[in-house]
Amino acid sequence: MILIKNGLIILDNKLIKKDILIDKEEILDISDEIDMDCEAIDCTGLLVMPGAIDVHVHFREPGFTDKETIKTGCLSAAKGGVTTVMPMPNLNPCPDCYQNLKLELDLISRDACVHCYPYGAVSRGENQLEASRVEEIHDLVYAISDDGKGVNNASLLEDVMRMAKKYDLVIASHAEDSVDGYLPKGEYVAVRREIELAKKIGCRYHFCHMSTKESFEAIRKARSEGYTNITCEVTPHHLVLNEEMIQDGNYKMNPPLRSEENRLATIEALIDGTAQMIACDHAPHTEEEKKREYNKCPNGIIGLETMIPIIYTEFVKNGKISLNRFLDLMVYNPISVFHLPKRDLKKGFVADLAILDIENPHTYTKDEILSKGKNSPFIGKTYYGFPKYTFVNGKLVYKR
Ligand code: DOR
Repeated sequence: MILIKNGLIILDNKLIKKDILIDKEEILDISDEIDMDCEAIDCTGLLVMPGAIDVHVHFREPGFTDKETIKTGCLSAAKGGVTTVMPMPNLNPCPDCYQNLKLELDLISRDACVHCYPYGAVSRGENQLEASRVEEIHDLVYAISDDGKGVNNASLLEDVMRMAKKYDLVIASHAEDSVDGYLPKGEYVAVRREIELAKKIGCRYHFCHMSTKESFEAIRKARSEGYTNITCEVTPHHLVLNEEMIQDGNYKMNPPLRSEENRLATIEALIDGTAQMIACDHAPHTEEEKKREYNKCPNGIIGLETMIPIIYTEFVKNGKISLNRFLDLMVYNPISVFHLPKRDLKKGFVADLAILDIENPHTYTKDEILSKGKNSPFIGKTYYGFPKYTFVNGKLVYKR
């Protein structure tokens, strides 16, 4: 048994001091005062929350282990207080059939220290031509995606949407039209088109990393018409950075950093509920790749270790979003949208905990990064809320 003493938990938008007793995998008790003769961790002044859930990460294995592995990606997640992740399928081999997915699942059961629920692909090898074998993999995944690529083949997308509906899977869309590419218009044109299709088919349809005012307007409108099957995520970087801040390859990702107007629209979507969750799009690359000149380096930044601190510091600490909304964005909404296993900071639940230092600011350094990728625009930035301890299944998986 492990006793978490004097931590602050979120109850009705307030921080309340409680003791938490963990027995094996489970939260055995939460009370004002627990005394037990067992290992105890003093968490005075620390915020104890259910571990965050990030539905959008790239762990690069199998296929690109020079960038990241399941093992290092999970360690990075644990360091960031993220206890459940959903790795994207732009892998080699691509998890587009049972055999390929099984390979990834076996690596996960061998190496993952946080819960990992991989995506299946929408099309075979993300080739946009032929649907993946959804009928073989639907029991093993919560969602499918061709992330990294927009699906511009309407008939293929419609076929896959019907399968997603049949098997109750989410499709996570990297909305990017083939004409305008990563430009703002390339995003919102694809979003508008895909919304119409998702309305027609009625499958659960989730837009990844939304970043333009027009995209949010379209999603807000669809949801206000009752199409709550349409959901979206926003990233920490699109919330706090804009295109004028770009310095080098560590600021390059797809969708790219946008105008200040689009950044403010992203914040508005976060605050008014148009966006249901935050996902960091953790996308590690090698230092050699990211050091190339800007136009030649690959898209993507790491994000798992800084997601909670950025959102806590920039939005919770200054009162832009409430403590309860913070939990909705980081934990409860991803669960309800993707139909993931229930997680909560309550008696009887699995002990997945992120324990944050909200009193002492910390400056993020390259040396402390646990991801194989060092490509972060947040190195050298100072935030509150870095995790001090992370538990998964009642086991300490990270300690600062
Ligand atoms: O920045 C990005 N990185 N955007 C993507 O769409 C793909 C991702 C990656 O896999 O590196």
